[in-house]
Parts: sequence; C-alpha cells; structure tokens
Amino acid sequence: PLVSSAEMFKKAYGNYAVGAFNVNNMEIIQGIVDAAKEEQAPLILQVSAGARKYAKHIYLMKLVEAAVEDTGLPICLHLDHGEDFEICKACVDGGFTSVMIDGSKYPFEENIALTKRVVEYAHARGVVVEGELGRLAGVEDAVNVSAKDATYTDPDQAAEFVRRTGVDSLAIAIGTSHGAYKFKGEPQLDFDRLAKIAALIPGFPIVLHGASTVLPEFVAKCNAYGGQIKDAQGVPEEMLKKAGTMGVCKINIDTDLRLAMTASIRESLAQNPDKFDPRDYLRPAREAIKNMVKHKIKNVLGASNRL
Ligand code: G3H
Ligand code: 13P
Ligand code: NA
Ligand code: ZN
Repeated sequence: PLVSSAEMFKKAYGNYAVGAFNVNNMEIIQGIVDAAKEEQAPLILQVSAGARKYAKHIYLMKLVEAAVEDTGLPICLHLDHGEDFEICKACVDGGFTSVMIDGSKYPFEENIALTKRVVEYAHARGVVVEGELGRLAGVEDAVNVSAKDATYTDPDQAAEFVRRTGVDSLAIAIGTSHGAYKFKGEPQLDFDRLAKIAALIPGFPIVLHGASTVLPEFVAKCNAYGGQIKDAQGVPEEMLKKAGTMGVCKINIDTDLRLAMTASIRESLAQNPDKFDPRDYLRPAREAIKNMVKHKIKNVLGASNRL
C-alpha cells in the first residue's frame, strides 16, 4: 500500500536511513522500486513541483500506484520542496502520503506560521509533513564559522520549530547542497551541529537534502561520451553512513539518478548509432538506475532487509 513515513522513521532512527528518491517518469520509478523490492527496503518516492509539472500529478500518482500493486511494497509518496500551502493541499487531496512545506527562505516566524498551517491541514487527513529550517549551502558558502551560523540550522531554533509547528520530520542545513557541485575543496559537513540538533529533539526524524554522492563512474561515463561535467563533487558515502547513525532518517537523492540515467543513455546512443527505438536506450538506463539504487540501499543507507 501507499504508506506514511512515520513507521519507517521510527524503525530507522539511529540505525539506518530511508532513501527518498526523486521521480519524473516510468523508467525512473521502475528502476527504483525494483531495487527496493530486491533489497526488501523501505522506500520513499518523492515528486518535486517541477516533476509534477513535467509528468502531471495524475500520471505520477497512477505510476506509483502501479508500482505498489506490482511490487507489493509499502511505499511513501512524498511532495518534495512544496513552496506554498496550495501545492501541499493539492498533494494531500491528490493522494500523497507525505508532503514537505519548505519555508526555509522565510524568516523564522513566517516559516513557523506557514508550516503550522500545512501541518493542520495534512494531519487532519492522515498525511505527514516535513519542514525545513536553515539554508542549504552553495559551493562557496559557509566556509567560516560566522557564515555557518548565518545559514546552517540553529539547534535551539530547530527544537522550537519542531515543538511549535508539530511537523513530523525536519530538513536541516549542515553543509550539503543540491546538484552535482557540492564542494570546492574537501567535502565537509557540520557533524557537531547535527549532534546538537539531534540531542535537542531526541528520537525526532531528521532529513538530509542534497545527499547525492555524485558517483565518479557516472560522471566519467557522461564525459567519455560527449558530456561536459566538470569538477562535480558529492557527499562521500562515509559521511552519509555516519549521518544515518545520528538521527538522519531520510536521505534525499536526485542527482545520482540523473547521472546514472544520462551516463547510460549517452553510452547507448554512442555505441549504437544505427538504433532509434527509445526502448534500446531506456531499458539499460532503467537497469543502471536499479543497480545504483541497490548499491545505495545496501552499502550507504543500510536499509536492506528492513521491511
Ligand atoms: O531538490 C531538488 C530536486 O533535485 C528536484 O529537482 O526541481 O529540478 O525537479 P527539480
Ligand atoms: P541531490 O541533488 O544531492 O540529489 O539532492 C536531492 C534533494 O535534496 C531533493 O530534495
Ligand atoms: Na522533501
Ligand atoms: Zn532537496
């Protein structure tokens, strides 16, 4: 069935993390759910506003329902980075089991007010809510202590935010960022801050956005077949594993899916210039996604055999 993430996070807390993978089309969904099925892993599929616009709500909804029916897996369907009340309401009304209201760009009190409003609406309908506090870093951001204090999540505010909004999970900023260019020099996450936050909200599920590792093999393959992806760098696997033991229950992954898919498609097209049936390059792309997700579940998230 489509399920909420509440039970998944309760089981995972302190031991491992649940993967939250961004989906945009059928092949991406199939690759991910086949991996989760083989690994017997809890799974969150998440849809951004852009994905919803690209594929349309109803198509994604029906594809995910098909995935549940096909695999028999409990899957949580989550709205990623909902930016206002209306999109959260549309997803609650439209069958999602979890929504994120991302008020992180607003001042603290406005973020609380907006998040609370979404929580009231969602909880009344059995849907859980993820909030966000703190700004995800850009590549050159937050190198010094005062910059970190200005943008990263403040532990005391995190505790107050959780208490006053009633959210079910909280996305925090400790140095990750979206996309393929996360660090200029050595990758660094503020684990002291994560520990402080977790200590102030004991047992409460923490979410890590921008958590792709930017697997070098996919970047290399893209570039070997005409791509131009320079100086890409993600979050090292060891750091994600560590985060999973410190209260991070949900790890968001989109960039690694994009890279796996694009690398495979570039290779297929280059190696088979005479072919033009989309299935010839989408089948291996789906398989590449599946293998990458299996690796994540098993070796990074620690979520194999956790159903
Ligand atoms: O957080 C962003 C996710 O990677 C989704 O990206 O808004 O381009 O669909 P998108
Ligand atoms: P990545 O860009 O690191 O995959 O992060 C995805 C994300 O946080 C989606 O909300
Ligand atoms: Na999200
Ligand atoms: Zn995100």
